[in-house]
Amino acid sequence: MEAATTDAGGHAGAPMPARAGLSPALKGTVRVPGDKSVSHRSLIFGTLAVGETRISGLLEGEDVLNTAKACAALGATVERLGEGEWRVEGVGVGGLTQPDAPLDFGNAGTGSRLMMGVVAGNPITATFDGDASLRRRPMRRILDPLEQMGVEVMDAAEGGRLPLTLKGPRDLVPITYESPVASAQIKSAVLLAGLGAPGETVLIEREASRDHTERMLTHFGAEVTVEPYGTHGRKVTLKGRPELKPRPIAVPADPSSAAFPVAAALIVPGSDIVIEGVMVNPLRTGLFITLKQMGASIDYLNERVEGGEDVADLRVRHTGRLTGVEVPAERAPSMIDEYPILAVIAAYAQGTTRMNGLSELRVKESDRLAAVADGLAAIGVAHRIEGDDLLVEGKGSVSGGGPVATHMDHRIAMSFLVAGLAAANAVEVDDVAFIATSFPSFLPLMKRLGAVIEVDTAGGAR
Ligand code: S3P
Repeated sequence: MEAATTDAGGHAGAPMPARAGLSPALKGTVRVPGDKSVSHRSLIFGTLAVGETRISGLLEGEDVLNTAKACAALGATVERLGEGEWRVEGVGVGGLTQPDAPLDFGNAGTGSRLMMGVVAGNPITATFDGDASLRRRPMRRILDPLEQMGVEVMDAAEGGRLPLTLKGPRDLVPITYESPVASAQIKSAVLLAGLGAPGETVLIEREASRDHTERMLTHFGAEVTVEPYGTHGRKVTLKGRPELKPRPIAVPADPSSAAFPVAAALIVPGSDIVIEGVMVNPLRTGLFITLKQMGASIDYLNERVEGGEDVADLRVRHTGRLTGVEVPAERAPSMIDEYPILAVIAAYAQGTTRMNGLSELRVKESDRLAAVADGLAAIGVAHRIEGDDLLVEGKGSVSGGGPVATHMDHRIAMSFLVAGLAAANAVEVDDVAFIATSFPSFLPLMKRLGAVIEVDTAGGAR
């Protein structure tokens, strides 16, 4: 695989506006692509293991493909064998080679931040870059602990942002780090760096964030212990410099992608759909818990464990009886990517939905708090922001309109397209190109369920 080329200016190609309109009842059984978090990690762990890791169900979205290119640029052999089927020939912990070009992570916070941790454990120098959205996102949260471990930041844009260059030391120092934010990306960067340090690296988080890194560390044979910390937190202890053994990985379907057809079925009258094989890891299911509290009909069918993760088929039925709820701040880590789509569903509920503690939304692919608020305003939904809380006034219906500005953010684009499926007037969004970062099959999958969505290409709607 060739090293990524730098495309720091943004997504290749012109913006693609699209329109979603009133749709008939959604019906059918679908499978959404592989989980993005697990997909990034499977390539990374494959790179850090000695020998061949086989991956099935990999998300072939742009974010993950950029991680694959970075792994290849750092010395792993990364090969696509078929749809979602990949093999990685790893180089082992501490075995990375110096890349001969900047690593371009495109739109992906997860890929770039986790790979900073990976690079830290090797005596190499690497430059990290990304598109205009990624260049705006905070990286100090990763650089701070890595510098404590001995990593040198050779160069960085203002505020420690991309593009930046890191140099891993000969001997990394293990640390105990209490993360200032509940972030699986910070946690994972520190733990991945800790693989290259002698002794124990300890990561403390006050609110538990998604635990795919810890699960995969265990799966690949590292010694890792996880203990409760305070009321909602965890303390993770990792023994450094293990030899990671290659293990097969089956990537379950992404609950953060499933959220969009789930939402569509809840707002389009008469809908009854099944989404197969969705990961229901309790640290990822805050949205489904919230929706059930709102009165949604979501059943977990055939609950099982696949590839070390809890998985179920989700049956979702429209009942037309959703009511507003208050979503506590401590639930945020388990549904951090799902607030834009929850805001849309809340508009179709009756009464106020209050979402507390959303400060982290301001530093996602866009300032999601502002982007959601502006989008709701554009489609006629009453709402307000109080501090870090978002309140949506649900009236059971949405008038529609737009265009909604998507700000290079896949989840804003998908959320507002879903909003249009039951709106009185169509909803227009300004660019659907970034949906390819996480859910390349979104449009055909939604259309297969019956959704009415049209994309304007240069040649007209398709
Ligand atoms: C992710 C962690 C979350 C999430 C992102 C994926 C991960 O980010 O928003 O989409 O795979 O670790 P934070 O760690 O910044 O909360």
